[in-house]
Amino acid sequence: MIAPTGPVLSSNSAVPITQFHPTITQEALEEKVIIIVGGANGIGESLVELCCQNGAYVCIGDIDTPRGAPLSLRCCEKWPVYSDPNLPPKPPRSTFQAVDITDYHAVLNLFDFAFKTYNRIDHVVVTAGSMEPKENWFDCTLSLQDIRTPPSTKDLDINLTGSLYVVRVASVYLRHNRGPGVDRSIILFSCAAGFKETPGVSVYQAAKHGIQGLMRSLRPYFCSPYKHNLRINTICPWMTQTHPAVTKKLCDRWEEEGLPISSALQVAQVTAGVLVDDTLNGTSMYVEGGRAWEMEANITRLEPQWLGEAPSKTLTRGQKVLEDVWAA
Ligand SMILES: *[C@@H]1O[C@H](CO)[C@@H](O)[C@H](O)[C@H]1NC(C)=O
Ligand SMILES: *[C@@H]1O[C@H](CO)[C@@H](O)[C@H](O)[C@H]1NC(C)=O
Ligand SMILES: *[C@@H]1O[C@H](CO)[C@@H](O)[C@H](O)[C@H]1NC(C)=O
Repeated sequence: MIAPTGPVLSSNSAVPITQFHPTITQEALEEKVIIIVGGANGIGESLVELCCQNGAYVCIGDIDTPRGAPLSLRCCEKWPVYSDPNLPPKPPRSTFQAVDITDYHAVLNLFDFAFKTYNRIDHVVVTAGSMEPKENWFDCTLSLQDIRTPPSTKDLDINLTGSLYVVRVASVYLRHNRGPGVDRSIILFSCAAGFKETPGVSVYQAAKHGIQGLMRSLRPYFCSPYKHNLRINTICPWMTQTHPAVTKKLCDRWEEEGLPISSALQVAQVTAGVLVDDTLNGTSMYVEGGRAWEMEANITRLEPQWLGEAPSKTLTRGQKVLEDVWAA
């Protein structure tokens, strides 16, 4: 059973780290086996290339076969794996598996496939794609007639339920074929909408808050060396160039205002930086104009200030009781 978030210091950075500067070295990624869900496009695609370039093996899981399959072939050609002829042949630099993450069995198939190919899985990244502000569930012009038609739950199914499926399967697979002291982790993609109100995309926003909540609920539990011994972190990119919701009109206005925008590669670099930094667990990196800030440490540390000293103390005591009772 999963324990509720207790009074455990939820982020391990008690000291604010202000800006996070990713350091990606070949040695940190060399020979790591990484599943990148949603790796066919945008930030995911940049991350696939960055990891392959630094010697990792990447299994791309994506619904977009026309882009994902050729990407994996390109990576194999560009960064071939050299095998010693006297040893068993090494697996390919990159592989592709078509997956619809709203289908639990398809998620299982992806992990079965990656494990069969590489014999272990070190890290799992779920890169969130897009938000399509198409249907507004809460449009103020909706009539009594309009609400007879049930709205689409696609955003929730893909961005929340799908991530939950991946994390569940990953939490078991990542424990297999693991040597002592080997670092293993999960990174989920939230968004600025994971903590900040964003107009017109209520359901997407609920899903992204859900991702943040999922990470928070799992971080004290996953990181325990007696349980999963896994790190779990989120990336919260703000405006990013490849975002499908970024229209020409929005782009022009953004530029006019002199607002920062990240490239997919910059967000991928932050992600890879979190992936290889085994001191980071339970953190969230807000990415703006290519720069990253860790948010969770201050939220935890400053609770007595934003919630008030007394309620914060009582809350801590009560959460401790919940933890004792539920986790027992
Ligand atoms: C993760 O953070 C917790 C504190 O929340 C800390 O006790 C633990 O050692 C950290 N784990 C790793 C693997 O860094
Ligand atoms: C956290 O709080 C400290 C002190 O209030 C501040 O200097 C820092 O910029 C804040 N943000 C981050 C990401 O650490
Ligand atoms: C999140 O939901 C949107 C809308 O349904 C979808 O286009 C996008 O691909 C989803 N994200 C992921 C990671 O699948």
